[in-house]
Amino acid sequence: MPRFYLSTPIYYVNAAPHIGHAYTTIVADTIKRIRQMLGDEAFLTTGSDEHGQKVERSATKAGLEPKQFTDRVSAAFRDEWDALGLQYDFFQRTSDPRHAKAVRKIFERCLENGAIYKGEFTGKYHVGDEAFVTEDEAAGADPSLIVDLTEENYFFRLSDYQQKLIDHYEANPQFVQPDSRRNEMLSFMRSGLRDLSISRSSLRWGISLPNDPDHVFYVWFDALTTYISAIGFGQEGSDESHYERLWPIDVHLVGKEILRFHSVYWPAFLMAAGLPLPKQIWAHGWLIFQGGKMSKTKGNIVRALPIKEIVGTDGLRYYLLREIVFGQDGNFSHEALSERYNADLANGIGNIASRTASMLSRYCDGHVPEPGEGDDGGLPDLARQSIAGAIGHYKVYAFSRALEAVWAVLNRIDKYIVEHKPWALAKSGEPGARQQLETTLYHAAEALRIASVLLAPVIPDGAQRVWTMLGQTGAVSDQRLDELGWGGLKQGTAVGAQEAIYPRLDVAKAVQRMELLEDEALAQQAVLMGQAPATEPIEIDTPEIEIGEFFRVDMRVGVIKSAEAVPKSSKLLQMQVDIGEREPRSILAGIAETYRPADLIGRRVAVVANLKPRKMMGRLSQGMIVAASLDRGEPFLAGFSDKTPVGARLG
Ligand code: MSP
Repeated sequence: MPRFYLSTPIYYVNAAPHIGHAYTTIVADTIKRIRQMLGDEAFLTTGSDEHGQKVERSATKAGLEPKQFTDRVSAAFRDEWDALGLQYDFFQRTSDPRHAKAVRKIFERCLENGAIYKGEFTGKYHVGDEAFVTEDEAAGADPSLIVDLTEENYFFRLSDYQQKLIDHYEANPQFVQPDSRRNEMLSFMRSGLRDLSISRSSLRWGISLPNDPDHVFYVWFDALTTYISAIGFGQEGSDESHYERLWPIDVHLVGKEILRFHSVYWPAFLMAAGLPLPKQIWAHGWLIFQGGKMSKTKGNIVRALPIKEIVGTDGLRYYLLREIVFGQDGNFSHEALSERYNADLANGIGNIASRTASMLSRYCDGHVPEPGEGDDGGLPDLARQSIAGAIGHYKVYAFSRALEAVWAVLNRIDKYIVEHKPWALAKSGEPGARQQLETTLYHAAEALRIASVLLAPVIPDGAQRVWTMLGQTGAVSDQRLDELGWGGLKQGTAVGAQEAIYPRLDVAKAVQRMELLEDEALAQQAVLMGQAPATEPIEIDTPEIEIGEFFRVDMRVGVIKSAEAVPKSSKLLQMQVDIGEREPRSILAGIAETYRPADLIGRRVAVVANLKPRKMMGRLSQGMIVAASLDRGEPFLAGFSDKTPVGARLG
C-alpha cells in the first residue's frame, strides 16, 4: 500500500490552543482523510514544542516547574484535537526522552560530517522569536524585543548549504509551495546564508548536548527533529522501522511565519546528517481576526470548541476549508461562519438530503427506484466532472475549489428537483409522469451519494449521515475517491429515515451564543495557563432570614457624581452619590486599590441608604456602596445599566 506521511507544526505550549492551531490541524486531518480515500496508508503527526525561554517564563509565571506546566498544556492540545475528532497518529512532545535521543543522534551525525563548530557570537537577538536576527530584521522588529547578545555557541555551517539548497529548489519546483513563498525563500537564500547558532549555554530547560552538557539545544534544532523522532528515528529496534517506512515525509504543513525554518534550516540539517529531504513543505496563510493575526499579546483570539458547540465540527471544518483559500490569509468571523453554515450546509446539502429522503419514502415506498428514460438534468455528466475536479483540487490542497466543484452538483440537484416537481408528477395522470418521477428521484439520490463520498474528508459527520440515509452500509470514508463513478446506487435499496442533518441557525443568536461560550473558554484557559486561580464551588452557610428582615435594608440605585482619594488612606475614596434625593450623599468606600476616581464618575451603583451615618478618617459617610469580593479580596462594584432609574429601590 502506498504510504503518505504528513505533519503539522508542533505547537508552543506557552499559549493555549486556539483556532489558528486548529486550522493547521484540521487541514492536516482533511489531507489524511483524502489520502486514505485515495488508497494510501496515511500517517499524521502533531505535537507540542516544549523547550525554550518563553515556555520557561510562562511556567514561572504560572508558579509551576516547566515539566508540570508543559504536561498540563500539552494535554490540553491533545484534548482539543480529540474533541475536534482529529485523527492524528502520533503526538510528539519534545520533552519525551525518545525525542532527545533523536536530537542528539542527528547532532552527532552533523558533528561527524564537519557541519558543527564552536564559536562566539554576538548579534541582534529577538527575545520573542528566540532567534538571532539580521540587522534588517532587527530594525523592523519591536525594539523592546531586540537585544545584543554574545554567547559561546555551537554553530551549524548553514553557509555551506546555500548553493546545495538552491540547487535542490531548482531541481524540485514542488519542494516549497505555494510558488510565491518558494520565490521568497529563494531570494532569502540568494541574499546569503549565515551560520546558525544551535545551542545555548544560558538556558536550562532543554535537551543537553551529548558532547557538552553545559549547553542545551536551541529550540529550532530540537523542534524540527520532531518530524523524524515522532516516527522512531534514533530508537533501536522495531521503533525505528516506522522511520524506514515513512521517511522522507510527503508534506510538512506550516504557517507562513515558520516557513524559513522548515524550508531552509531543516533541509540543511538533514543534508548535513546525510538523511533524505522532505518531499514538500506547504506554507499556508493566517486566519485574521479583528484586523490581525491572532496572538496572545493582541488578545484577538478565537477558540475552536465554542464554535463546535454551535455548528459542530463539520460547520467549523467546512467554513475554514471553503471560505479561506488555502495558502492565503483569510478573515475569520462568527457571522460569516454562521451564514456559510446556513447557506451551504443547512439549506444546501442538509436540505437536499432530507427532501430527497422524504420524497423517496413518500413516492417510492422508501426504496431507490429504477433510473428510467426521462430527463436526467445533465447530472451524470456533471457528477463525473465534479469527481475529477474535486479529486484534482484535493490533491493539490485547493480545498475551496474542490468544494465548489461538489456544490455545482448539489445546486444542480436542487434545480433539477424544482424543474420536475416530483410532488406534481406523483399526482399527475399523464403518461410518462411516473417514469420521470422515478428518474428524477434516482438521479437526485445518486448525485447526492456521490457528493457524500466526495465530501467525507471535509465534513465527515454529515457525509456519513447522508450516506446512511441513502441506505448505504458501512463507513463512507471506506469508499475510494478514485473508484467513484455514476451508477453506484442500487435500485431497490431501502432508504433510511429522514433526519435534519444540519439544523438551521438563527445567525444573531448563534453568534451571541458562540461569543458567550468564547468568554467561558477564555476564562478556563486562563486557569489552564496558571494565569487565574481555579475557582472552587462555594458553600453558603449564613443563617436563613425572613423576607421582612431583608426589606429592612433600603437599597437604592445611585449615580456617582464625583470621587476623590482620601488623603493618608491607601484604600478609601470619598464620593458624592446622587440617589434621587434633593442633595447627593457623601459616601466613603474602600475601593481605591481597584478603581481610579476618574473612572467612577457617571457609574450607577447600589447604595445602602438607611445605614447609620458614620465618620471615617474624619469624613462623614452617609451610606454604603455595595461591592462584591471573594474571601474579602479585591472589591467589585455592583452596577446597573445606564437606563436604570436613579433612586429605584432594590429588592
Ligand atoms: N513551535 C513552533 C513550530 C515548531 S515546528 C517544528 C510554532 N508554534 S506555534 O504554536 O506558534 O504554532 C505555529 C503554527 O500554528 C503556525 O505555523 C500555524 O500553522 C498555526 N497558527 C497559529 N496561529 C495561526 C493563525 N492565526 N492562523 C493560521 N494558523 C496559525 O511556531
